[in-house]
Amino acid sequence: MTSTNELSLSETYGAFIDNEFRPVAGQTFPAKHAGTGETVAQLARCGRTEIDAAVQAAAKAAPAWRARSAEERAELLLKLAAVIEADTDRLARIDSIDIGRRLFETTLDHRFAISQYRYFAAAAITHEGFGRAIPNGYLVAKREPYGVCGLIIPWNVPAIMAAFKIAPAVAAGNTVVLKPDENASLSTMELCKHIARIFPPGVINVVPGFGEEAGAALTAHPGVAKLAFTGSSEVGRIISQAGAERLVPVSLELGGKSPNIVFPDIEDIDAVVDNAMFATMYCNGQSCLAGTRLFVHDAIYDDFMERLVAGMRRVKVGPALATDTIMSSLVSAEQGERVLKYIDIGISEGARLMVGGKRVSVEGNEAGYFIEPTVFEATNSMRIAQEEIFGPVLSVMRWSDYDQMIAEANGVRYGLAAGLYTSNLRNAWETADRLQAGSVWINQYFNLASGSPFGGFKESGIGSEYCHETLNMYTHLKAITVQTKVMEPWFAPKP
Ligand code: NAI
Ligand code: MG
Repeated sequence: MTSTNELSLSETYGAFIDNEFRPVAGQTFPAKHAGTGETVAQLARCGRTEIDAAVQAAAKAAPAWRARSAEERAELLLKLAAVIEADTDRLARIDSIDIGRRLFETTLDHRFAISQYRYFAAAAITHEGFGRAIPNGYLVAKREPYGVCGLIIPWNVPAIMAAFKIAPAVAAGNTVVLKPDENASLSTMELCKHIARIFPPGVINVVPGFGEEAGAALTAHPGVAKLAFTGSSEVGRIISQAGAERLVPVSLELGGKSPNIVFPDIEDIDAVVDNAMFATMYCNGQSCLAGTRLFVHDAIYDDFMERLVAGMRRVKVGPALATDTIMSSLVSAEQGERVLKYIDIGISEGARLMVGGKRVSVEGNEAGYFIEPTVFEATNSMRIAQEEIFGPVLSVMRWSDYDQMIAEANGVRYGLAAGLYTSNLRNAWETADRLQAGSVWINQYFNLASGSPFGGFKESGIGSEYCHETLNMYTHLKAITVQTKVMEPWFAPKP
Protein backbone atom coordinates (compact mmCIF):
# COMPACT_ATOMS: atom_id res chain seq x y z
CA MET A 1 0.00 0.00 0.00
CA THR A 2 1.17 3.51 -0.80
CA SER A 3 2.13 5.51 2.24
CA THR A 4 1.08 9.11 2.08
CA ASN A 5 4.63 10.50 2.37
CA GLU A 6 5.58 8.67 -0.83
CA LEU A 7 3.06 10.94 -2.49
CA SER A 8 5.02 14.12 -1.60
CA LEU A 9 2.00 15.72 -0.02
CA SER A 10 2.50 18.96 1.88
CA GLU A 11 1.60 18.98 5.55
CA THR A 12 -0.58 22.04 5.05
CA TYR A 13 -1.92 23.65 1.91
CA GLY A 14 -2.52 27.37 2.08
CA ALA A 15 -4.62 29.41 -0.29
CA PHE A 16 -3.02 29.30 -3.74
CA ILE A 17 -2.88 32.96 -4.80
CA ASP A 18 -0.46 34.57 -7.28
CA ASN A 19 1.35 31.22 -7.66
CA GLU A 20 2.12 30.96 -3.93
CA PHE A 21 0.59 28.96 -1.14
CA ARG A 22 -0.34 31.55 1.46
CA PRO A 23 -0.91 30.53 5.05
CA VAL A 24 -4.33 31.31 6.43
CA ALA A 25 -4.03 32.40 10.05
CA GLY A 26 -4.87 29.49 12.34
CA GLN A 27 -7.72 28.18 10.24
CA THR A 28 -7.34 24.74 8.70
CA PHE A 29 -9.43 21.63 8.15
CA PRO A 30 -8.29 18.04 7.52
CA ALA A 31 -8.10 16.14 4.24
CA LYS A 32 -8.91 12.56 5.19
CA HIS A 33 -8.16 9.15 3.75
CA ALA A 34 -11.63 7.98 2.71
CA GLY A 35 -10.92 4.36 3.63
CA THR A 36 -9.10 4.67 6.93
CA GLY A 37 -10.34 8.04 8.13
CA GLU A 38 -6.76 9.18 8.83
CA THR A 39 -5.86 12.81 8.32
CA VAL A 40 -3.33 13.04 5.49
CA ALA A 41 -2.91 16.83 5.26
CA GLN A 42 -4.38 20.11 6.43
CA LEU A 43 -6.11 22.59 4.15
CA ALA A 44 -6.54 26.30 4.62
CA ARG A 45 -10.09 27.15 5.59
CA CYS A 46 -10.44 30.14 3.30
CA GLY A 47 -12.95 32.85 3.97
CA ARG A 48 -13.82 36.29 2.76
CA THR A 49 -10.27 37.68 3.19
CA GLU A 50 -8.60 34.98 1.07
CA ILE A 51 -11.33 35.08 -1.55
CA ASP A 52 -10.88 38.81 -1.82
CA ALA A 53 -7.10 38.45 -2.18
CA ALA A 54 -7.55 35.72 -4.81
CA VAL A 55 -10.05 37.76 -6.83
CA GLN A 56 -7.73 40.76 -6.68
CA ALA A 57 -4.79 38.66 -7.90
CA ALA A 58 -6.94 37.30 -10.74
CA ALA A 59 -8.13 40.80 -11.65
CA LYS A 60 -4.56 42.09 -11.71
CA ALA A 61 -3.45 39.24 -13.99
CA ALA A 62 -6.45 39.58 -16.32
CA PRO A 63 -5.33 42.34 -18.73
CA ALA A 64 -1.99 40.71 -19.59
CA TRP A 65 -3.55 37.26 -19.87
CA ARG A 66 -6.28 38.30 -22.27
CA ALA A 67 -3.73 40.27 -24.29
CA ARG A 68 -1.76 37.10 -25.00
CA SER A 69 -2.46 35.38 -28.26
CA ALA A 70 -4.62 32.28 -28.24
CA GLU A 71 -1.54 30.36 -29.42
CA GLU A 72 0.40 31.39 -26.32
CA ARG A 73 -2.46 30.45 -24.01
CA ALA A 74 -2.77 27.13 -25.81
CA GLU A 75 0.93 26.45 -25.37
CA LEU A 76 0.67 26.78 -21.59
CA LEU A 77 -2.38 24.52 -21.46
CA LEU A 78 -0.44 21.92 -23.44
CA LYS A 79 2.47 22.20 -20.99
CA LEU A 80 0.09 21.64 -18.12
CA ALA A 81 -1.34 18.58 -19.88
CA ALA A 82 2.18 17.19 -20.31
CA VAL A 83 3.17 17.58 -16.66
CA ILE A 84 -0.10 16.03 -15.48
CA GLU A 85 0.57 13.14 -17.84
CA ALA A 86 4.02 12.60 -16.34
CA ASP A 87 2.57 12.83 -12.82
CA THR A 88 -0.65 10.85 -13.37
CA ASP A 89 0.30 7.87 -11.25
CA ARG A 90 0.95 9.99 -8.16
CA LEU A 91 -2.05 12.28 -8.67
CA ALA A 92 -4.36 9.30 -9.18
CA ARG A 93 -3.11 7.70 -5.95
CA ILE A 94 -3.76 10.93 -4.12
CA ASP A 95 -7.34 10.98 -5.42
CA SER A 96 -7.88 7.31 -4.55
CA ILE A 97 -6.82 8.01 -0.97
CA ASP A 98 -8.73 11.26 -0.69
CA ILE A 99 -12.06 10.16 -2.15
CA GLY A 100 -11.89 6.37 -1.95
CA ARG A 101 -12.27 5.51 -5.63
CA ARG A 102 -10.27 2.69 -7.15
CA LEU A 103 -7.01 3.52 -8.85
CA PHE A 104 -8.20 2.35 -12.26
CA GLU A 105 -10.88 5.04 -12.20
CA THR A 106 -8.83 7.88 -10.74
CA THR A 107 -6.14 7.19 -13.35
CA LEU A 108 -8.80 7.49 -16.05
CA ASP A 109 -9.93 10.78 -14.45
CA HIS A 110 -6.50 12.29 -15.00
CA ARG A 111 -6.31 11.01 -18.59
CA PHE A 112 -9.67 12.59 -19.16
CA ALA A 113 -8.46 15.84 -17.58
CA ILE A 114 -5.37 15.83 -19.81
CA SER A 115 -7.58 15.47 -22.87
CA GLN A 116 -9.60 18.48 -21.65
CA TYR A 117 -6.54 20.72 -21.40
CA ARG A 118 -5.48 19.60 -24.89
CA TYR A 119 -8.93 19.99 -26.36
CA PHE A 120 -9.28 23.55 -25.10
CA ALA A 121 -5.75 24.43 -26.22
CA ALA A 122 -6.85 23.57 -29.74
CA ALA A 123 -10.28 25.10 -29.30
CA ALA A 124 -8.81 28.41 -28.10
CA ILE A 125 -6.99 28.83 -31.40
CA THR A 126 -9.99 27.92 -33.49
CA HIS A 127 -12.52 29.93 -31.50
CA GLU A 128 -13.65 32.61 -33.87
CA GLY A 129 -16.06 35.48 -33.90
CA PHE A 130 -17.57 36.56 -37.22
CA GLY A 131 -17.69 39.53 -39.49
CA ARG A 132 -19.25 40.90 -42.66
CA ALA A 133 -19.10 43.84 -44.90
CA ILE A 134 -21.70 46.59 -44.39
CA PRO A 135 -22.20 49.66 -46.57
CA ASN A 136 -19.01 51.74 -46.35
CA GLY A 137 -17.42 49.53 -43.78
CA TYR A 138 -17.34 46.36 -41.73
CA LEU A 139 -19.04 44.68 -38.83
CA VAL A 140 -16.74 42.65 -36.60
CA ALA A 141 -18.26 40.48 -33.86
CA LYS A 142 -15.45 39.45 -31.54
CA ARG A 143 -15.51 37.22 -28.50
CA GLU A 144 -14.04 38.70 -25.33
CA PRO A 145 -13.33 37.05 -22.00
CA TYR A 146 -15.41 38.16 -19.02
CA GLY A 147 -12.44 38.79 -16.75
CA VAL A 148 -12.39 36.91 -13.44
CA CYS A 149 -14.39 33.67 -13.33
CA GLY A 150 -15.50 32.10 -10.04
CA LEU A 151 -15.47 28.31 -10.36
CA ILE A 152 -16.90 25.86 -7.81
CA ILE A 153 -16.52 22.10 -8.17
CA PRO A 154 -17.65 18.93 -6.32
CA TRP A 155 -15.79 15.95 -4.88
CA ASN A 156 -16.70 12.99 -7.07
CA VAL A 157 -14.22 13.41 -9.95
CA PRO A 158 -11.95 16.28 -8.81
CA ALA A 159 -9.38 16.03 -11.61
CA ILE A 160 -12.03 16.05 -14.31
CA MET A 161 -13.96 18.83 -12.63
CA ALA A 162 -10.91 21.08 -12.23
CA ALA A 163 -10.09 20.57 -15.93
CA PHE A 164 -13.71 21.07 -17.03
CA LYS A 165 -13.68 24.50 -15.45
CA ILE A 166 -10.07 25.75 -15.66
CA ALA A 167 -9.33 24.66 -19.25
CA PRO A 168 -12.11 26.51 -21.11
CA ALA A 169 -12.04 29.56 -18.81
CA VAL A 170 -8.34 30.30 -19.22
CA ALA A 171 -8.28 29.16 -22.87
CA ALA A 172 -10.85 31.87 -23.55
CA GLY A 173 -8.63 34.49 -21.88
CA ASN A 174 -10.21 34.70 -18.43
CA THR A 175 -8.40 34.42 -15.13
CA VAL A 176 -9.94 32.22 -12.44
CA VAL A 177 -10.54 31.60 -8.79
CA LEU A 178 -11.44 27.97 -8.20
CA LYS A 179 -12.91 26.53 -5.03
CA PRO A 180 -12.41 22.78 -4.81
CA ASP A 181 -14.69 20.62 -2.67
CA GLU A 182 -13.92 20.30 1.03
CA ASN A 183 -13.94 16.48 0.65
CA ALA A 184 -11.58 16.34 -2.31
CA SER A 185 -9.08 19.19 -2.55
CA LEU A 186 -5.76 17.35 -2.46
CA SER A 187 -5.10 16.58 -6.12
CA THR A 188 -6.21 20.10 -7.06
CA MET A 189 -3.79 21.60 -4.52
CA GLU A 190 -1.04 19.40 -5.96
CA LEU A 191 -2.03 20.57 -9.44
CA CYS A 192 -1.31 24.11 -8.20
CA LYS A 193 2.37 23.17 -7.76
CA HIS A 194 2.48 22.45 -11.51
CA ILE A 195 0.46 25.53 -12.38
CA ALA A 196 2.95 27.73 -10.49
CA ARG A 197 5.75 26.59 -12.79
CA ILE A 198 3.78 27.17 -15.99
CA PHE A 199 1.27 30.00 -15.74
CA PRO A 200 1.89 33.66 -14.88
CA PRO A 201 0.97 34.55 -11.27
CA GLY A 202 -2.70 35.24 -10.70
CA VAL A 203 -4.09 33.51 -13.81
CA ILE A 204 -5.23 30.44 -11.84
CA ASN A 205 -5.94 30.79 -8.11
CA VAL A 206 -7.31 28.03 -5.88
CA VAL A 207 -9.00 28.62 -2.54
CA PRO A 208 -9.87 25.53 -0.50
CA GLY A 209 -12.68 25.82 2.02
CA PHE A 210 -16.31 25.17 2.80
CA GLY A 211 -19.26 25.93 0.60
CA GLU A 212 -21.08 28.30 2.89
CA GLU A 213 -17.86 30.23 3.60
CA ALA A 214 -15.39 30.22 0.71
CA GLY A 215 -18.02 29.23 -1.87
CA ALA A 216 -20.55 31.84 -0.79
CA ALA A 217 -17.87 34.57 -0.56
CA LEU A 218 -16.73 33.75 -4.09
CA THR A 219 -20.22 33.84 -5.61
CA ALA A 220 -20.96 37.16 -3.84
CA HIS A 221 -17.69 38.89 -4.74
CA PRO A 222 -18.27 41.97 -6.90
CA GLY A 223 -15.00 41.35 -8.79
CA VAL A 224 -16.24 38.03 -10.22
CA ALA A 225 -17.79 38.48 -13.65
CA LYS A 226 -18.89 34.92 -14.42
CA LEU A 227 -19.81 31.94 -12.25
CA ALA A 228 -19.58 28.26 -13.13
CA PHE A 229 -20.67 25.49 -10.79
CA THR A 230 -20.95 21.71 -10.69
CA GLY A 231 -22.72 20.03 -7.78
CA SER A 232 -26.16 19.43 -6.35
CA SER A 233 -29.25 21.08 -7.81
CA GLU A 234 -29.97 22.56 -4.37
CA VAL A 235 -26.70 24.48 -4.26
CA GLY A 236 -26.98 25.22 -8.00
CA ARG A 237 -30.12 27.16 -7.19
CA ILE A 238 -28.26 29.16 -4.52
CA ILE A 239 -25.44 29.97 -6.97
CA SER A 240 -27.98 30.97 -9.58
CA GLN A 241 -29.63 33.36 -7.11
CA ALA A 242 -26.24 34.85 -6.21
CA GLY A 243 -25.62 35.41 -9.93
CA ALA A 244 -29.05 36.99 -10.37
CA GLU A 245 -28.34 39.39 -7.50
CA ARG A 246 -25.27 40.78 -9.28
CA LEU A 247 -26.53 40.06 -12.82
CA VAL A 248 -23.57 37.89 -13.80
CA PRO A 249 -23.92 34.84 -16.05
CA VAL A 250 -24.02 31.45 -14.34
CA SER A 251 -23.43 28.05 -15.90
CA LEU A 252 -24.52 25.00 -13.94
CA GLU A 253 -23.93 21.28 -14.19
CA LEU A 254 -26.19 19.65 -11.63
CA GLY A 255 -27.67 16.33 -10.63
CA GLY A 256 -29.12 13.50 -12.65
CA LYS A 257 -31.36 10.45 -12.42
CA SER A 258 -30.69 9.05 -15.81
CA PRO A 259 -32.73 6.33 -17.54
CA ASN A 260 -30.99 3.38 -19.16
CA ILE A 261 -33.35 1.59 -21.53
CA VAL A 262 -33.08 -2.00 -22.73
CA PHE A 263 -35.08 -3.02 -25.81
CA PRO A 264 -36.03 -6.64 -26.46
CA ASP A 265 -34.07 -6.82 -29.75
CA ILE A 266 -30.58 -6.61 -28.21
CA GLU A 267 -28.23 -9.24 -29.58
CA ASP A 268 -25.80 -9.61 -26.69
CA ILE A 269 -27.53 -9.58 -23.31
CA ASP A 270 -24.29 -9.91 -21.34
CA ALA A 271 -22.77 -6.83 -22.97
CA VAL A 272 -25.85 -4.80 -22.04
CA VAL A 273 -25.78 -6.20 -18.49
CA ASP A 274 -22.15 -5.01 -18.27
CA ASN A 275 -23.18 -1.53 -19.41
CA ALA A 276 -26.01 -1.45 -16.85
CA MET A 277 -23.57 -2.47 -14.10
CA PHE A 278 -20.97 0.06 -15.19
CA ALA A 279 -23.64 2.79 -15.33
CA THR A 280 -24.49 2.03 -11.68
CA MET A 281 -21.02 1.42 -10.24
CA TYR A 282 -18.68 3.89 -11.94
CA CYS A 283 -17.48 6.32 -9.24
CA ASN A 284 -19.04 3.89 -6.76
CA GLY A 285 -22.32 5.34 -7.96
CA GLN A 286 -21.27 8.91 -7.14
CA SER A 287 -21.69 10.28 -10.63
CA CYS A 288 -24.19 12.83 -11.85
CA LEU A 289 -24.30 10.77 -15.05
CA ALA A 290 -25.04 7.44 -13.37
CA GLY A 291 -27.69 5.37 -15.12
CA THR A 292 -29.70 4.64 -11.99
CA ARG A 293 -33.08 3.89 -13.54
CA LEU A 294 -32.94 0.77 -15.68
CA PHE A 295 -35.94 0.04 -17.91
CA VAL A 296 -35.85 -3.59 -19.05
CA HIS A 297 -38.38 -4.92 -21.56
CA ASP A 298 -40.77 -7.57 -20.33
CA ALA A 299 -39.82 -10.08 -23.06
CA ILE A 300 -36.25 -10.45 -21.76
CA TYR A 301 -36.75 -9.27 -18.20
CA ASP A 302 -36.29 -12.50 -16.26
CA ASP A 303 -33.20 -13.60 -18.16
CA PHE A 304 -31.67 -10.10 -17.96
CA MET A 305 -32.31 -9.74 -14.23
CA GLU A 306 -30.86 -13.14 -13.45
CA ARG A 307 -27.62 -12.17 -15.17
CA LEU A 308 -27.59 -8.69 -13.65
CA VAL A 309 -28.04 -9.98 -10.10
CA ALA A 310 -25.38 -12.66 -10.63
CA GLY A 311 -23.01 -10.02 -12.03
CA MET A 312 -23.56 -7.70 -9.08
CA ARG A 313 -22.89 -10.56 -6.63
CA ARG A 314 -19.49 -11.11 -8.24
CA VAL A 315 -18.36 -7.49 -7.80
CA LYS A 316 -15.30 -7.33 -5.58
CA VAL A 317 -15.67 -4.60 -2.98
CA GLY A 318 -12.31 -3.62 -1.50
CA PRO A 319 -9.70 -0.94 -0.78
CA ALA A 320 -9.22 1.77 -3.39
CA LEU A 321 -5.57 0.89 -4.07
CA ALA A 322 -6.00 -2.91 -4.32
CA THR A 323 -5.67 -4.02 -7.93
CA ASP A 324 -8.56 -6.50 -7.84
CA THR A 325 -11.06 -3.99 -6.43
CA ILE A 326 -14.05 -3.20 -8.59
CA MET A 327 -15.92 -1.03 -6.11
CA SER A 328 -14.42 0.84 -3.20
CA SER A 329 -15.65 3.28 -0.58
CA LEU A 330 -17.89 6.31 -0.81
CA VAL A 331 -16.28 9.67 -0.24
CA SER A 332 -17.33 10.25 3.37
CA ALA A 333 -19.37 8.97 6.28
CA GLU A 334 -21.95 11.63 5.51
CA GLN A 335 -22.39 10.41 1.94
CA GLY A 336 -22.36 6.77 3.13
CA GLU A 337 -25.13 7.44 5.66
CA ARG A 338 -27.12 9.27 3.02
CA VAL A 339 -26.95 6.26 0.68
CA LEU A 340 -27.85 3.77 3.45
CA LYS A 341 -30.83 5.97 4.33
CA TYR A 342 -32.02 5.75 0.73
CA ILE A 343 -31.71 1.96 0.82
CA ASP A 344 -33.99 1.96 3.90
CA ILE A 345 -36.39 4.29 2.12
CA GLY A 346 -36.52 1.87 -0.84
CA ILE A 347 -37.35 -1.05 1.44
CA SER A 348 -40.01 0.91 3.30
CA GLU A 349 -41.55 2.09 0.01
CA GLY A 350 -42.05 -1.58 -0.93
CA ALA A 351 -39.31 -1.84 -3.57
CA ARG A 352 -38.01 -5.41 -3.89
CA LEU A 353 -34.35 -5.71 -2.91
CA MET A 354 -32.75 -8.11 -5.44
CA VAL A 355 -29.13 -7.90 -4.31
CA GLY A 356 -26.88 -5.83 -2.03
CA GLY A 357 -28.18 -3.24 0.40
CA LYS A 358 -25.54 -3.50 3.11
CA ARG A 359 -22.41 -1.72 4.26
CA VAL A 360 -19.35 -3.99 4.04
CA SER A 361 -16.42 -3.90 6.43
CA VAL A 362 -13.05 -3.90 4.67
CA GLU A 363 -10.01 -4.87 6.70
CA GLY A 364 -7.71 -1.96 7.45
CA ASN A 365 -10.33 0.44 6.05
CA GLU A 366 -12.94 0.15 8.77
CA ALA A 367 -13.76 3.86 8.69
CA GLY A 368 -14.73 3.69 5.02
CA TYR A 369 -18.28 3.42 3.77
CA PHE A 370 -18.11 0.45 1.41
CA ILE A 371 -21.63 -0.30 0.18
CA GLU A 372 -22.61 -3.36 -1.81
CA PRO A 373 -23.89 -2.76 -5.33
CA THR A 374 -27.62 -2.66 -4.72
CA VAL A 375 -30.47 -3.47 -7.08
CA PHE A 376 -34.14 -2.80 -6.41
CA GLU A 377 -37.16 -3.72 -8.46
CA ALA A 378 -39.02 -0.47 -8.17
CA THR A 379 -41.62 1.75 -9.74
CA ASN A 380 -40.71 5.09 -11.24
CA SER A 381 -42.75 7.11 -8.74
CA MET A 382 -40.82 5.81 -5.72
CA ARG A 383 -38.38 8.19 -4.05
CA ILE A 384 -35.45 5.87 -4.81
CA ALA A 385 -36.31 6.26 -8.51
CA GLN A 386 -36.93 10.01 -8.36
CA GLU A 387 -34.15 11.39 -6.17
CA GLU A 388 -30.42 11.45 -6.82
CA ILE A 389 -28.88 8.97 -4.36
CA PHE A 390 -25.24 9.26 -5.45
CA GLY A 391 -24.32 5.74 -4.46
CA PRO A 392 -24.37 2.27 -6.08
CA VAL A 393 -28.13 1.86 -5.97
CA LEU A 394 -30.09 0.88 -9.07
CA SER A 395 -33.87 0.94 -9.55
CA VAL A 396 -35.11 -1.46 -12.21
CA MET A 397 -38.47 -1.08 -13.94
CA ARG A 398 -40.13 -3.68 -16.20
CA TRP A 399 -41.71 -2.21 -19.31
CA SER A 400 -43.85 -3.32 -22.23
CA ASP A 401 -45.71 -0.23 -23.47
CA TYR A 402 -43.28 2.02 -25.37
CA ASP A 403 -45.08 5.34 -24.85
CA GLN A 404 -45.55 4.72 -21.17
CA MET A 405 -41.89 3.76 -20.79
CA ILE A 406 -40.79 6.98 -22.53
CA ALA A 407 -43.10 9.01 -20.28
CA GLU A 408 -41.56 7.37 -17.23
CA ALA A 409 -38.00 7.72 -18.55
CA ASN A 410 -38.69 11.46 -18.85
CA GLY A 411 -40.71 11.53 -15.65
CA VAL A 412 -38.10 13.02 -13.32
CA ARG A 413 -37.00 16.58 -12.60
CA TYR A 414 -33.57 15.86 -14.04
CA GLY A 415 -32.43 15.50 -17.66
CA LEU A 416 -28.69 14.95 -17.75
CA ALA A 417 -28.10 11.71 -19.65
CA ALA A 418 -29.82 8.61 -20.98
CA GLY A 419 -28.71 5.26 -22.36
CA LEU A 420 -30.47 2.89 -24.71
CA TYR A 421 -29.67 -0.49 -26.26
CA THR A 422 -31.22 -1.78 -29.47
CA SER A 423 -30.14 -3.20 -32.80
CA ASN A 424 -32.76 -1.20 -34.69
CA LEU A 425 -31.31 2.08 -35.98
CA ARG A 426 -34.67 3.73 -36.53
CA ASN A 427 -35.82 2.81 -33.03
CA ALA A 428 -32.57 4.14 -31.60
CA TRP A 429 -32.88 7.47 -33.39
CA GLU A 430 -36.57 8.00 -32.65
CA THR A 431 -36.09 7.13 -28.98
CA ALA A 432 -33.08 9.44 -28.70
CA ASP A 433 -35.26 12.22 -30.12
CA ARG A 434 -37.91 11.71 -27.47
CA LEU A 435 -35.62 11.56 -24.44
CA GLN A 436 -35.27 14.75 -22.41
CA ALA A 437 -31.55 14.56 -21.73
CA GLY A 438 -28.44 16.51 -22.59
CA SER A 439 -26.57 13.35 -23.62
CA VAL A 440 -28.07 10.19 -25.12
CA TRP A 441 -25.80 7.18 -25.43
CA ILE A 442 -26.84 4.49 -27.84
CA ASN A 443 -25.35 1.04 -27.23
CA GLN A 444 -22.65 2.21 -24.81
CA TYR A 445 -23.08 4.05 -21.52
CA PHE A 446 -20.77 6.95 -20.53
CA ASN A 447 -19.65 7.47 -24.12
CA LEU A 448 -17.93 10.81 -23.55
CA ALA A 449 -16.09 11.46 -26.77
CA SER A 450 -13.99 14.63 -26.61
CA GLY A 451 -15.98 17.55 -27.94
CA SER A 452 -19.43 16.11 -27.31
CA PRO A 453 -21.52 18.82 -25.65
CA PHE A 454 -22.07 17.88 -22.05
CA GLY A 455 -24.84 19.56 -20.11
CA GLY A 456 -28.25 19.08 -18.60
CA PHE A 457 -31.85 19.58 -19.61
CA LYS A 458 -34.47 20.56 -17.04
CA GLU A 459 -33.09 20.79 -13.47
CA SER A 460 -29.79 19.18 -14.47
CA GLY A 461 -28.24 22.45 -15.47
CA ILE A 462 -27.62 25.34 -17.80
CA GLY A 463 -24.92 25.40 -20.46
CA SER A 464 -22.69 22.87 -22.22
CA GLU A 465 -19.20 21.84 -21.19
CA TYR A 466 -16.52 19.77 -22.89
CA CYS A 467 -17.11 21.21 -26.36
CA HIS A 468 -16.41 24.20 -28.59
CA GLU A 469 -19.64 25.83 -27.45
CA THR A 470 -18.19 25.97 -23.92
CA LEU A 471 -15.89 28.80 -25.00
CA ASN A 472 -18.99 30.83 -25.79
CA MET A 473 -20.05 30.35 -22.17
CA TYR A 474 -16.78 31.92 -21.02
CA THR A 475 -16.87 34.87 -23.41
CA HIS A 476 -19.28 37.59 -24.44
CA LEU A 477 -19.72 39.00 -27.91
CA LYS A 478 -18.73 42.51 -28.78
CA ALA A 479 -19.89 44.07 -32.04
CA ILE A 480 -17.53 46.63 -33.54
CA THR A 481 -18.70 48.46 -36.62
CA VAL A 482 -16.29 50.44 -38.75
CA GLN A 483 -17.16 53.10 -41.32
CA THR A 484 -14.35 54.10 -43.61
CA LYS A 485 -15.29 57.79 -43.29
CA VAL A 486 -17.43 59.78 -40.88
CA MET A 487 -21.01 59.28 -41.97
CA GLU A 488 -24.09 61.43 -41.62
CA PRO A 489 -26.05 60.42 -38.50
CA TRP A 490 -29.32 58.56 -38.94
CA PHE A 491 -31.36 61.57 -38.00
CA ALA A 492 -30.69 65.18 -38.80
CA PRO A 493 -29.47 66.90 -35.63
CA LYS A 494 -30.04 70.34 -37.09
CA PRO A 495 -33.40 71.61 -38.27
P1 NAI B 1 -22.81 20.34 -2.91
O1 NAI B 1 -23.62 20.77 -4.06
O2 NAI B 1 -23.14 20.86 -1.56
O3 NAI B 1 -21.25 20.68 -3.15
C1 NAI B 1 -20.68 21.03 -4.38
C2 NAI B 1 -19.76 22.24 -4.22
O4 NAI B 1 -20.53 23.39 -3.87
C3 NAI B 1 -18.70 22.12 -3.13
O5 NAI B 1 -17.49 22.72 -3.56
C4 NAI B 1 -19.29 22.91 -1.99
O6 NAI B 1 -18.31 23.41 -1.11
C5 NAI B 1 -19.97 24.03 -2.73
N1 NAI B 1 -21.05 24.70 -1.99
C6 NAI B 1 -21.90 24.16 -1.10
N2 NAI B 1 -22.73 25.10 -0.63
C7 NAI B 1 -22.41 26.28 -1.22
C8 NAI B 1 -22.89 27.62 -1.14
N3 NAI B 1 -23.91 27.94 -0.35
N4 NAI B 1 -22.31 28.56 -1.91
C9 NAI B 1 -21.29 28.25 -2.72
N5 NAI B 1 -20.78 27.00 -2.84
C10 NAI B 1 -21.33 26.03 -2.10
O7 NAI B 1 -22.85 18.76 -2.87
P2 NAI B 1 -22.69 17.76 -1.59
O8 NAI B 1 -23.42 18.32 -0.41
O9 NAI B 1 -21.27 17.44 -1.42
O10 NAI B 1 -23.44 16.45 -2.08
C11 NAI B 1 -24.83 16.29 -1.84
C12 NAI B 1 -25.51 15.67 -3.04
O11 NAI B 1 -25.37 16.53 -4.16
C13 NAI B 1 -24.92 14.35 -3.50
O12 NAI B 1 -25.40 13.29 -2.76
C14 NAI B 1 -25.37 14.33 -4.92
O13 NAI B 1 -26.71 13.87 -5.01
C15 NAI B 1 -25.30 15.77 -5.35
N6 NAI B 1 -24.03 16.08 -6.06
C16 NAI B 1 -24.02 16.16 -7.41
C17 NAI B 1 -22.83 16.35 -8.08
C18 NAI B 1 -22.78 16.44 -9.57
O14 NAI B 1 -21.74 16.17 -10.14
N7 NAI B 1 -23.82 16.87 -10.24
C19 NAI B 1 -21.56 16.45 -7.39
C20 NAI B 1 -21.67 16.44 -5.96
C21 NAI B 1 -22.86 16.23 -5.35
MG1 MG C 1 -11.26 13.09 1.56
